[in-house]
Amino acid sequence: MTTAAIQVRGIRKSFKDLDVLRGVDFDVASGSIFALLGSNGAGKTTLVRILSTLLKADAGTASVHGFDVAATPNDVRQSISLTGQFAAVDEVLTGRENLILVARLRHLKDPDTIADGMLARFSLTDAGGRKAATYSGGMRRRLDIAMSLIGDPPIIFLDEPTTGLDPQARIEVWQTVKDLAKAGTTVLLTTQYLDEAEQLADRIAILHKGTIIQNGTLAELKQLLPSAQVEYIEKQPSLEDVFLALVGETEGDPS
Ligand SMILES: Nc1ncnc2c1ncn2[C@@H]1O[C@H](COP(=O)(O)OP(=O)(O)OP(=O)(O)O)[C@@H](O)[C@H]1O
Ligand SMILES: [Mg+2]
Repeated sequence: MTTAAIQVRGIRKSFKDLDVLRGVDFDVASGSIFALLGSNGAGKTTLVRILSTLLKADAGTASVHGFDVAATPNDVRQSISLTGQFAAVDEVLTGRENLILVARLRHLKDPDTIADGMLARFSLTDAGGRKAATYSGGMRRRLDIAMSLIGDPPIIFLDEPTTGLDPQARIEVWQTVKDLAKAGTTVLLTTQYLDEAEQLADRIAILHKGTIIQNGTLAELKQLLPSAQVEYIEKQPSLEDVFLALVGETEGDPS
């Protein structure tokens, strides 16, 4: 039996007369990757902020790791990490110092060892002593995710984890997310990229005009459309295939 790590029931949120969320319902199974797909302004960040207790819903209920977000926000916060839409990395500090800072803030024992472990896990060991300001976008994103994972929260929210990254860096972040789920972490991510949801998610929910208009596996969503007629055309590589073939597949730090 799979238990729901996240349960969302009838969540509503308006900003003045703008009804952003009009009754949102879904479950996220423990240890799965759930993608919330929606256009700009659909309300993805608003929903993530409600689930991570940064914002109160107007109506409805949500529980995260078994804790109600409105009644027991502190328990929810102990169970989650949030990587926001914009990187929370301190550029003046080195990657290693950023990690140590977070471990100290969380009152963990032996912040140095924790930082080194995270650097190794995210292929940042060689870059660990360099200021984060010198990191590429992909490295910065990986550091950001590493920082949010300190303390091993069972549930992680990633708000548009790959927006603004090049194709290689996106693939690196995707691999990171897959590894997390493999290790048992529940991942809720938001994205506007269809291929990201396709690559990563066990289930995909589409948020549109304030409600979830579809929720299913990729195969289930594909069945919503009649299968394409067979046409005999040469398969052309996509621009992404060409780009990746020319610059090489994902590797460690280019340091
Ligand atoms: N604090 C706020 N006050 C007023 N309006 C807000 C506030 N926060 C969000 N909104 C509005 O709510 C709507 C949903 O915003 P939200 O940031 O949740 O969308 P999103 O799906 O995350 O979009 P994006 O893909 O651009 O990140 C937008 O129209 C936004 O302007
Ligand atoms: Mg957003």
